[in-house]
Amino acid sequence: MTTTAPEALDLQRAARDHLWLHFTRMGGYRDGEVPIIVRGDGCYLEDSKGKRYLDALAGLFSVNIGYGYGEEMGEAAAAQMRELPFYTNWSYAHPRAIELASEVASLAPGDLNRLFFVSGGSEAVESAWKLARQYYSARGEMRFRAARVPGQRVEPVVDFDAMEALQQSSRRRWKAISRHIAYHGTTMGALSINGIPAIREPFEPLVPEVHHVRNTNRYHRPAGESEAEFTAFLLDELEQTIEAAGPETIAMVIFEPVQNAGGAFTPPEGYWRGVRELCDHYDILLCADEVITGFGRLGAWFGSELYDIRPDLMTIAKGLSSSYAAIGAVVASDRVMEPFMEGTRMYSHGITFGGHPVQAAVALKNIEIMRRDRIVEHVAGTQSAFRATLEQLLDIPIVGDVRGTGFFYAIELVKDKETRQTFDDEECETLLRGFLSPALFERGLICRADDRGDPVIQISPPLVAGHQEFDQIVSILGDVLAEAWTRLHR
Ligand SMILES: Cc1ncc(COP(=O)(O)O)c(C=O)c1O
Repeated sequence: MTTTAPEALDLQRAARDHLWLHFTRMGGYRDGEVPIIVRGDGCYLEDSKGKRYLDALAGLFSVNIGYGYGEEMGEAAAAQMRELPFYTNWSYAHPRAIELASEVASLAPGDLNRLFFVSGGSEAVESAWKLARQYYSARGEMRFRAARVPGQRVEPVVDFDAMEALQQSSRRRWKAISRHIAYHGTTMGALSINGIPAIREPFEPLVPEVHHVRNTNRYHRPAGESEAEFTAFLLDELEQTIEAAGPETIAMVIFEPVQNAGGAFTPPEGYWRGVRELCDHYDILLCADEVITGFGRLGAWFGSELYDIRPDLMTIAKGLSSSYAAIGAVVASDRVMEPFMEGTRMYSHGITFGGHPVQAAVALKNIEIMRRDRIVEHVAGTQSAFRATLEQLLDIPIVGDVRGTGFFYAIELVKDKETRQTFDDEECETLLRGFLSPALFERGLICRADDRGDPVIQISPPLVAGHQEFDQIVSILGDVLAEAWTRLHR
């Protein structure tokens, strides 16, 4: 039977009865209160009871300009609604999609010049993998055609080496390589790329075949290991994985510039240069998943620029519109685009809302605001003060590590700072879910207590945050973490 919405809806009750929250143990809301957020301004949110929260997670690492630009963004959306509320990117273009593609291409490093729009990060990752898969067959067709010059008599003498090389480079490829504990989204392809066993297992069998390699977590590496040794160790493992999987079958290596899940793993010196070299050596496309790191989070427009990654593909979403609109994209280099520009070939993929004009208008306005209000420069200029403030937390015994860069940090919690001993599953459950998350929320701080890897608190505020917010984050976290330590030793 259909339930009709009552005139004055009891939001709490209706939320319990009808809304299905993502990644949420709904059983907890059978009797418990669903938190209902009703408005936002700057770095702050307000719930249905009028309580304010500092959003130190920027929504989901995504409201880069904060919550205070609704008027301007709304006007851009309304103007677009009046002019052209919808048209598709299936065979047609429209001004906002063209302008947004040009704008992002001008910001993106190197020859990342072509945008394929989608509705979010998972679709971007999904589309990047499909594109990488199709790229090799499209490129092969292009090369075979180039080898057979029309109208020319076939040479009776065959160069077998050249033929072999041609065949190798034109084989279909389908595999992907990503890193342990990395999160890349939830659609079946993107989910398969994820390196988090707990979110993969319920949906197995997944899309074959993804191989996972080590991430750049340094915290639990041997104490004496140098940066160069760590880099060599990681690259060696990546190369062995490529060799074992068969280089001629691998379409894509996909890593985040700084890995989020597990807790803001920054790359060691020389890591990205080495990854790029291996991809070049084995002729594999390199995709930088910039769904979080893009649009200023690391104090540069893109992590690819910061670390000189030179990817062939980049996936973007979240910060592209500061989450005021549901839009993402795959950004492809000229090299990846080339085979698709020949003859009748096309990338056989599309999504109704890809490049939606209203979403594109909002994303354009977001970039205009970011440029005008010098948001990326603000992150670059205040990031060391932010880090220094966060590092005060290292005085608390439960805080083992503070790591990250830009406005993208994780605090790793440990049982013993000396041995870096971590918590077991049961302790994580009582500490993170049972105490920390509710205590932080209660104190008016939204950040994430995460145990997809070792337990961490993730901090990723809107990029408009300043000293006042840095201090507030550390003051609340300091109190709550100190109490967590006391509880552990009761
Ligand atoms: C690196 C990365 N890729 C992909 C995604 C998936 O994005 P979405 O939730 O928009 O589908 C996320 C989401 O957090 C992400 O962090």
